[in-house]
Amino acid sequence: MWNNGSMDGRAHLGAGPEHWNGVHERRPPDQLTWYQPSPRQSLELIELAGVQPSQRIVDVGGGSSRLCDELIVAGYQDLTVVDVSAVALDHVRARGARTADSLTLIESDIGEFRSTNRFDLWHDRAVFHFLIGEDERQGYLDSLAANLTHHGHVVLATFGLQGPDTCSGLPVRKYGPDGLEVALGDRFEPLTFREDAHTTPTGGTQHFLYGLFRRIG
Ligand SMILES: C[S@@+](CC[C@H](N)C(=O)[O-])C[C@H]1O[C@@H](n2cnc3c(N)ncnc32)[C@H](O)[C@@H]1O
Repeated sequence: MWNNGSMDGRAHLGAGPEHWNGVHERRPPDQLTWYQPSPRQSLELIELAGVQPSQRIVDVGGGSSRLCDELIVAGYQDLTVVDVSAVALDHVRARGARTADSLTLIESDIGEFRSTNRFDLWHDRAVFHFLIGEDERQGYLDSLAANLTHHGHVVLATFGLQGPDTCSGLPVRKYGPDGLEVALGDRFEPLTFREDAHTTPTGGTQHFLYGLFRRIG
């Protein structure tokens, strides 16, 4: 049973590893609804943020996304993927040599994750929207504040207002630009928002909202 709290007082966020390992075991990466052959919007916003190749990028709840592979090809040298599912990270490992020295894979709940060195950019696609309770969102924001440099950037992608009500059998909270800005709080300045109509592997459409933010407090 997933227990919403840990010995050190940090929050476990969302459905937990049992749920997510099951999801990643049941279908191969390219048959998951959120699969993208190339995460174009994320790459564009990371480039827009002006992150240099030597700076540190973390993809939280990165799952088996190909974002890390594409960032390596683009020349980024210090990448970390954090995911609560060991199965998802095994899929990334199984892709092999291209994901060598510049990539660190960490099995952890975002709420509990604390890095020794802070990141210059925090990327999240399709994780924050699973946080339904205010206490969960606060746990996420605590982790974000603890792990991001003081002028760091955030790329946050959630289901947009026209997006689905559930994903992976879990309820989601949908966001428009104003809602996403309020959810991140006044320590973050919005730089730009983009809408994206994601095509699922079975040909459906899911509306996403991407926001690029800069930390100002
Ligand atoms: C919908 S998938 C999105 C995966 C990836 N970001 C992408 O766009 O392809 C959500 C991912 O978040 C992970 N996840 C869910 N809750 C988490 C948490 N509290 N801490 C870390 N990872 C979590 C799941 O294991 C899953 O890989």
